[in-house]
Amino acid sequence: MKPVVVRPFEADDLVGAARALVEVHETDGYPVEGVEDPRAWLKSDDVLAAWVAEVEGEIVGHVSLMRPQGEDAVSLWIAQSGDDEAHVAVLARLFVVQAARKHATGRSLTEAAMAYARAQDLRLVLDVMTKDAAAIRLYERLGWRRIGEATHHYGSGQSIQAVCYVSPEA
Ligand SMILES: CC(C)(COP(=O)(O)OP(=O)(O)OC[C@H]1O[C@@H](n2cnc3c(N)ncnc32)[C@H](O)[C@@H]1OP(=O)(O)O)[C@@H](O)C(=O)NCCC(=O)NCCS
Repeated sequence: MKPVVVRPFEADDLVGAARALVEVHETDGYPVEGVEDPRAWLKSDDVLAAWVAEVEGEIVGHVSLMRPQGEDAVSLWIAQSGDDEAHVAVLARLFVVQAARKHATGRSLTEAAMAYARAQDLRLVLDVMTKDAAAIRLYERLGWRRIGEATHHYGSGQSIQAVCYVSPEA
């Protein structure tokens, strides 16, 4: 595979990132709630920072850090640590198109977000569906620790099991 560049998200990346997201939804069913409006799902006022992975000008991956919005992972972590919510952010919207996988692209995206969080004195949490086994292996390889379980509700009364993680201490 050609070299992968991981860099901060720029406004012009939205179309390419949305295209990559739709592709990942087709191959992996991520996110489970579907991608009716992929651009809105990627870009909102709750995004603190985001990064993309690019191969020869084409967006092949994405990750973002988001302000807490009542996620189970946030409340679990705050209850366990006594941390202030102002020092917590949520790692979300991590995906890499199938053709670019297994070249440490997901790892580089996650590490970029983790480095930013360390510099900003933010502790990261996330939830991941138990079906997304590659993502779970990636987080555990990078030292994330499991802090509990959650049920993710979506659609019209559907639900799926998820596990919650906290990033390693800086
Ligand atoms: C999770 C996801 C982002 C991982 O992306 P990725 O770019 O393949 O991630 P990495 O390359 O860093 O790691 C994946 C695997 O490739 C391996 N790998 C990395 N570089 C490699 C190389 N040069 N040669 C061989 N294997 C390599 C890793 O060890 C890892 O192995 P594992 O699957 O046995 O654990 C991707 O699978 C994805 O988008 N999944 C669907 C969406 C999803 O689940 N998102 C998570 C939401 S919480």
